[in-house]
Amino acid sequence: MSLTGKIILVTGASSGIGRATSKRLLKKGAKVLGLCRNTSELINGVKPIQCDLADADAINTAFTDILKLDVIINNAGFALLSRISDGNPADWEAMWRVNVQALTICCQKALPLLPENAGQIINISSMSGHRVPPSGGFYAPTKFAVRAVTDALRSELRADGKKTRVASVSPGFVDTPLLNNYFKGRENDLEKTKASMQMLTPDDVADSIMHILETPLHVEITDIQMRSADQIG
Ligand SMILES: NC(=O)c1ccc[n+]([C@@H]2O[C@H](COP(=O)([O-])OP(=O)(O)OC[C@H]3O[C@@H](n4cnc5c(N)ncnc54)[C@H](OP(=O)(O)O)[C@@H]3O)[C@@H](O)[C@H]2O)c1
Repeated sequence: MSLTGKIILVTGASSGIGRATSKRLLKKGAKVLGLCRNTSELINGVKPIQCDLADADAINTAFTDILKLDVIINNAGFALLSRISDGNPADWEAMWRVNVQALTICCQKALPLLPENAGQIINISSMSGHRVPPSGGFYAPTKFAVRAVTDALRSELRADGKKTRVASVSPGFVDTPLLNNYFKGRENDLEKTKASMQMLTPDDVADSIMHILETPLHVEITDIQMRSADQIG
């Protein structure tokens, strides 16, 4: 579909994949709303919506100012290395809140604002939502949940006779600040990982998001798995 004049909410638009996607959308003539905490990092032209997604009440408040949407891209998320065997449950909860619960609330809040026959929801999952990396701890469970939420929502919409399209995008390693947190205390591993491959860039992921958005309305892309051609596993 043409993106000119479309109203598109991008969560996590202040950095990495969300920022690159916002830039593309603006170039296509879309009106972009950028939801994040650090709104000073948004690209010029993106309408700021300051919100901490860890706070469910703040999400409700943020949505009271949004009257209409054509697309929501649930991209905000973060990764801590927090192992199942000895990680801190507070870290699991923090990731669950933003990566899964906030994303699900945003889907629910967006639905009545989207056109019934032409709306699009895109949820950013991960290759860690398809297979569990041996040293990824609780991050992968949150990304498996994103895919499950995406599939559950699609089934509910079809059962209700609605045509809103729902997709996930599942990248492997992307060179963004997220990796600094994920590899905190394992900086040598991050260096080795970066040396072992030409990582995806945020623009590579934005390309796939644009592909989903620009397909004709009768085509529903359900998930895109993508990784560096050098990435093993
Ligand atoms: N980088 C990778 O290797 C990789 C691979 C697969 C999937 N992903 C997924 O891609 C998505 C984007 O990540 P990225 O790599 O682009 O990371 P990034 O550069 O660190 O960007 C993360 C974005 O999420 C927002 N965010 C985080 N916590 C938030 C909160 N509590 N409230 C509101 N916004 C919040 C941040 O905004 P503020 O800090 O301004 O709030 C920021 O804009 C995430 O869902 C991530 O899991 C990343």
